[in-house]
Amino acid sequence: MTQPLTASPSARLSGSVTVPGDKSISHRAVILGALATGRTRIEGLLDAEDVLATARAVAALGASVVRSNGALEVTGQGVGGLRAPKGPLDFGNSGTGSRLMLGVIAGHDMGVELTGDASLRRRPMGRVLQPLTAMGLDVDGDEEHATLPLKVHGTEDLLPIIYDLPVPSAQVKSAVLLAGLHAPGRTTVIENLPTRDHTERMLRFFGAEVAVEDRGGGASAITIVGDAELHGVPVTVPGDPSSAAFLIGAALICPGSDIVVENVLLNPTRAGSIETLREMGAKIEVVDLREAGGEPVGDLRVRSSALSGVHVPAERAPSMIDEYPVLAAVAAFAEGETRMAGLSELKLKESDRQAATAAGLAACGVEARIEGDDLVVQGRGLVKGGGTVETHMDHRIAMAFLTLGLGAAKPVTIDDTSMIATSFPSFVPLMIKLGATFG
Ligand code: S3P
Repeated sequence: MTQPLTASPSARLSGSVTVPGDKSISHRAVILGALATGRTRIEGLLDAEDVLATARAVAALGASVVRSNGALEVTGQGVGGLRAPKGPLDFGNSGTGSRLMLGVIAGHDMGVELTGDASLRRRPMGRVLQPLTAMGLDVDGDEEHATLPLKVHGTEDLLPIIYDLPVPSAQVKSAVLLAGLHAPGRTTVIENLPTRDHTERMLRFFGAEVAVEDRGGGASAITIVGDAELHGVPVTVPGDPSSAAFLIGAALICPGSDIVVENVLLNPTRAGSIETLREMGAKIEVVDLREAGGEPVGDLRVRSSALSGVHVPAERAPSMIDEYPVLAAVAAFAEGETRMAGLSELKLKESDRQAATAAGLAACGVEARIEGDDLVVQGRGLVKGGGTVETHMDHRIAMAFLTLGLGAAKPVTIDDTSMIATSFPSFVPLMIKLGATFG
């Protein structure tokens, strides 16, 4: 059942809040915990549908997953120690969970059926199946054009490969590296633009040997030494910058706002939206930069700001791929044109986000156009209109347009809030805590 919600004009957001744990790191902690021997205690795990689907999947594959005093404890049987599940694994809305787990399944001699919700069933799986079948995974059907539901069969005799990523995708990189854990020798992934590097960082943390060779111009070759042994470790998950982006965006566009978002992951492979917003004139200060769990984190003080349109280069896309919908919403409040270049990957997310964002902006009376892979927003310093926006089963479209509604002169209604639970269940209560008005 759909649950519409209206965001109403709000002013002066204030106060300090902490966003929930990073989604990417949470998935990886659960997965590596299931591949390690011994116990992995995960503090600050994102307690949201996407991650819970991954936790249920590793439990169905034989890992022990228990909640304990606010943390999640995962105990695995070591690399290669998972066993066939009794039924299909349902990854819900999660591209990350399903694609990373395909890399894990590849190294086990077992048949697995994977499925997901209507949004996930539309998303391309060929991008991970191509390298994984080259390593030895058997796929029922045409792997190049595959979508879920899907039946695959792994093998204990995976071949190591050298794989040049055809698209800048951390999910594809991670699937190949996770499969490489089970292969003899060295598996290498070459990326031409930096994508989020949490898998590499965390694999090392769990005891695997990972080498990163800088190839210049943002390119690198990442090599994992196979037949690895992983050991359970404590993991602390920092706050998700992709969730923080909505709070940051709201503070920038609601007049008189001054907020602090605490404990935000500031890994450079994820920080493109902060860089872009600062170029637009956003007052965002890092208050206390520190390291937590092997990742840079900080508290962000954000004040409402007069913004100008900018050109966002295509090379920056991987470091802010999930933030474009909210950036586009904020760009409507800037003076002048914002061009977001090179968004081909944005079309393949939980919805076609380039189209859904442009349509949502138009529904709110904002001038926006699609030019090939670019999205162009004509900012007018304010948004006079309100409107009703279709979210297309996409949590980030839902939150981006609720954010826009807080800064607009008239209310914005979204057709459905239910998908917000996949990544940021506390979004509305946290916004209300800062002073936002809904309904
Ligand atoms: C993710 C990588 C990105 C991102 C997704 C999470 C990850 O996808 O959009 O939300 O955790 O590896 P791609 O790797 O497909 O770009």
